[in-house]
Amino acid sequence: MYAERIANLKSSAIRDILKHMSRPGMIAFAGGSPAPELFPVAEIAVACEQVLSKYGPTALQYSITEGLVVLREKLVSKLAANGLGMSTDNVIITQGSQQALDLISKLFIDKDSLVFTENPSYLGALQAFRMFQARIAAIPSDSHGIDVEALRKQLRVERPKFLYIMPNFQNPTGVTYSLERRKALVAAAIEHDLLIVEDDPYGELIFEGERLPSLFALAKGKNVIYLSSFSKTIAPGFRVAYTAGDAEMLKKMVIAKQGSDLQTNTFGQYIVNEYLESGHYQTSIDVIRDTYRGRRDAMIAAMEQEFPSALAWNRPSGGMFLWVTLPTRWDAKEILERCLEQNVAFVPGQEFFPDGSGRNTLRMNFSSPSLGNIGEGVKRMGKVLKEIRG
Ligand SMILES: Cc1ncc(COP(=O)(O)O)c(C=O)c1O
Repeated sequence: MYAERIANLKSSAIRDILKHMSRPGMIAFAGGSPAPELFPVAEIAVACEQVLSKYGPTALQYSITEGLVVLREKLVSKLAANGLGMSTDNVIITQGSQQALDLISKLFIDKDSLVFTENPSYLGALQAFRMFQARIAAIPSDSHGIDVEALRKQLRVERPKFLYIMPNFQNPTGVTYSLERRKALVAAAIEHDLLIVEDDPYGELIFEGERLPSLFALAKGKNVIYLSSFSKTIAPGFRVAYTAGDAEMLKKMVIAKQGSDLQTNTFGQYIVNEYLESGHYQTSIDVIRDTYRGRRDAMIAAMEQEFPSALAWNRPSGGMFLWVTLPTRWDAKEILERCLEQNVAFVPGQEFFPDGSGRNTLRMNFSSPSLGNIGEGVKRMGKVLKEIRG
């Protein structure tokens, strides 16, 4: 009865874990949500009023599939600041970056089409690619990003439709690509005529160090489709994100989008546009960065105190996640079962690995729990971890 593409899909384990999250007293390091107390509620209320008084019914009417011209013009200026000479033909607005991943899948993936990803990769992207029955091959990755030599070797054997990567504060690992790695990857992409889908929802959430150029900027727009989103910098409820790239390719994405939802919601786009004009955006990003930096530091300090020394973790310089590696024989899923009994949750890493490895890894989210809950939750996890004999 169902289409072939649906038959083999299974529900995400993260969704299953999230079912436990509403339990009283649960401390969740499992989600991927921004801190709701930092949403600019008062400023958005002002923006709403201004949108309605400035644009009236137009703000509530259907609008074009590509997205509001005024908003796209701002995004073109943002790209121009990074040295990219683009026009509004090079930018479209999507209903979250997740929709862009779906539309890109529609454009490029037939049954058994090959897609390269990092190992591990973002689950939502893997789900989008799998929906179109892609064959996913994970390229080995280290603490500076994807292994470009391994990629080149693989490219000599088989050609993927595209390579999907997150160079800034990756989900799930928090890893950021070094400048050398970015340049090497762009060089490999141009040499092998490889299309890269660069997903960058976290780039603005940088805590320290210098913000590195996107692959899209380094490649001067060639061979790269760039995705970013206002979900983590304003609020995910708007579902406003954008894709930048080759104008011809975007025209095809627009046709695919028409069949999905006609357009991204007009009112939300106007509010995001008004909010960007209000000048609050940068101030709010500074507060988000300071808060998340403090939470990351608190989580690491607590882990140093509470976790057994056999565990290792990284110190991401931005984003919302950090990544823990357990001793090889440990199983994060079993540990999660015990942690749920103690009312604390994280995401076992294995699902993020297209090659099925990573049983002994886990992802911790530091953006949404309070400082108090970070301390208490890590303590609860530490108690469980200390009881494991491996
Ligand atoms: C890497 C990555 N890409 C895309 C998304 C989807 O974001 P949105 O659809 O809210 O823009 C997320 C959400 O967590 C993400 O982590």
